[in-house]
Amino acid sequence: MAVVGIFVGTMYGNALLVAEEAEAILAGMGHKATVYEDSDLADWQKYQSDYVLVVTSTTGQGDLPDSIVPLFESIKTTLGYQPETRYGIIALGDSTYANFCGGGKQFDALLQEQSAQRVGEMLMIDASEHPEPESESNPWVENWGTLLK
Ligand SMILES: Cc1cc2nc3c(=O)[nH]c(=O)nc-3n(C[C@H](O)[C@H](O)[C@H](O)COP(=O)(O)O)c2cc1C
Repeated sequence: MAVVGIFVGTMYGNALLVAEEAEAILAGMGHKATVYEDSDLADWQKYQSDYVLVVTSTTGQGDLPDSIVPLFESIKTTLGYQPETRYGIIALGDSTYANFCGGGKQFDALLQEQSAQRVGEMLMIDASEHPEPESESNPWVENWGTLLK
């Protein structure tokens, strides 16, 4: 059984829906998962010896949604180095925009920079091909859940 904090960045609720389905799937596998919207660094730090799953869309021109920017900025300015953090990442975007999944890519790059350990590959969901993002994310989460110790 693993403990997972699911951190959401959303504008219109798609990423939240994906996160809530992920929470249910992980719970069904015997893990303890909790979704955080408008999270802060204290929430993130609770999972230092556990797992985090970042589920974020992209807005503007490859930007993170406002709901997750404060977390991103405090990780960037306060943590610096977090080699014990194990994370997964689901990025929602739309390939008709120039910076496809730019928000998720920025988050992944920050965690890589800080030596966090990614578990599995980043999932990128293209809204122009998959209007129901959970149809892509649910199978990915089922697999991701098997990688947790
Ligand atoms: C104003 C606006 C800007 C967007 N900019 C991008 C972008 O730069 N890159 C991208 O991949 N997707 C972009 N998208 C697509 C969204 O990320 C995508 O529709 C996503 O599913 C929205 O999820 P959410 O409801 O959780 O915010 C944009 C969407 C809107 C409405």
